Amino acid sequence: MSEKLYIRGGNPLVGEVSVSGSKNSVLALIAATLLSDEPCRLENVPVIEDVRVMLEIVRYLGAGVDFDSKSGIVDIDPRTLDKTEVPQELSGRLRASYYFLGALYGARGEAKVGLPGGCSIGERKMDLHLMAFNRLGAQIDENDPTATAIKGIHCPGKINFDKKSVGATMNAMLAAAKIEGKTTITNIASEPHISDLGNFLRAMGAQVRDLGNGTMQIFGKKHLRGFCHSIIPDQIETGTLMIATAATRGEVRINNCIPEHMEALSAKLLEMGVSVTEDSSSIVVKMHEAHRAVNVFTREYPGFPTDLQQPISALLTRAKGKSEVTENIFNNRFGFLDEMRRMGARFSIYDNVAVIEGVDMLKGTYVKAQDLRGGAALVIAGLMAEGATTIENPHYIRRGYEGLEIKLKSLGADIYYGGGLDG
Ligand code: EPU
Repeated sequence: MSEKLYIRGGNPLVGEVSVSGSKNSVLALIAATLLSDEPCRLENVPVIEDVRVMLEIVRYLGAGVDFDSKSGIVDIDPRTLDKTEVPQELSGRLRASYYFLGALYGARGEAKVGLPGGCSIGERKMDLHLMAFNRLGAQIDENDPTATAIKGIHCPGKINFDKKSVGATMNAMLAAAKIEGKTTITNIASEPHISDLGNFLRAMGAQVRDLGNGTMQIFGKKHLRGFCHSIIPDQIETGTLMIATAATRGEVRINNCIPEHMEALSAKLLEMGVSVTEDSSSIVVKMHEAHRAVNVFTREYPGFPTDLQQPISALLTRAKGKSEVTENIFNNRFGFLDEMRRMGARFSIYDNVAVIEGVDMLKGTYVKAQDLRGGAALVIAGLMAEGATTIENPHYIRRGYEGLEIKLKSLGADIYYGGGLDG
């Protein structure tokens, strides 16, 4: 019988918890280690399924990998890299496999990577990635519909993105870091993990300058050195824990986070009547009464992150009043609300806007996770609900949250994995 996540709702979360390393940062940095001529070490690596798959791909490519999951340290030795192709069977297991295009093109001048997988949260094109590689000398081979193949003679270039893309910005940075000369990238995305990658590449010897106004300049180097780097705390896990605390009317100190990365969410929670206080690396969230409805509008960083849209929407199903949530980044990120309808949530969806009518009570039932953050939203729903909630497909949650159930349990939640009977 497949594994499920069981929650008995109603317990307020109370205590202290520590945030793990950033998923979306570490996935790019694992690929970045292949650009180096020497071994690299990554610290504060979260033990999540997506990391395991990325490392499996690095091993497949011939590099040495040693992952100590207890200490969260990964050592990668790229000197034995002997392949430039990632088969679909591996690439299709996560979205971030697209970073092997930039890393292998930078390292070897060619890459063939099967189509990426990842959560079905809407259209996820690759045109901006390919345009960037093309500006850096790559020819795109479109003969194989199941893979992206690029090959060419490195040249620095000018890249302008018509639209901000996290993945395309980071892929362009990966390739440009090994290309001698000046590459200028304009209209870049500026999520926290982009700075983390910039710091890593800089420490390896590339010159990476953020010129402000969405412009980055990279002077690549033919030889990059090995480096030890600690991954930044996960912005989205921090936000998920903040929302879960407010949802259960609890009081939690969230440690090892970067409050500055959380400003859009903190402002929304304050608007809802939740108390949010912070010091340099902790946030304390307190809520002891019903929260107010607010409108949410997802935007690129520093706007409200699309990855927290689902968790905050879950919270808003119990707010006082009517909220409007507008999803501007991905066009299929409301599926979890249909699951929550069976728990008593009231809402209507008009294109990319969910109008949520807060209710006094949700009732636990059997729900199905369809993607990572939608899964986290269902966990929050289960924590708020009366009675028992069973979440099917919890493997989505494991892809991107390290020990979420262990952390929530340590704060007083009644939550556990099991393979037992439904309901
Ligand atoms: N887009 C294009 N063309 C492209 C690339 C993107 O039109 O070539 C569009 C997308 O369709 C989307 C928008 O640009 O509408 C933004 O997509 P982006 O490229 O920024 O997203 P991504 O790189 O596919 C990463 C994260 C996502 C996160 C988004 C936005 C990784 C592995 N994934 O995806 O994380 O939602 O940035 O911040 O870093 C998650 O963690 O749950 C997750 C989905």
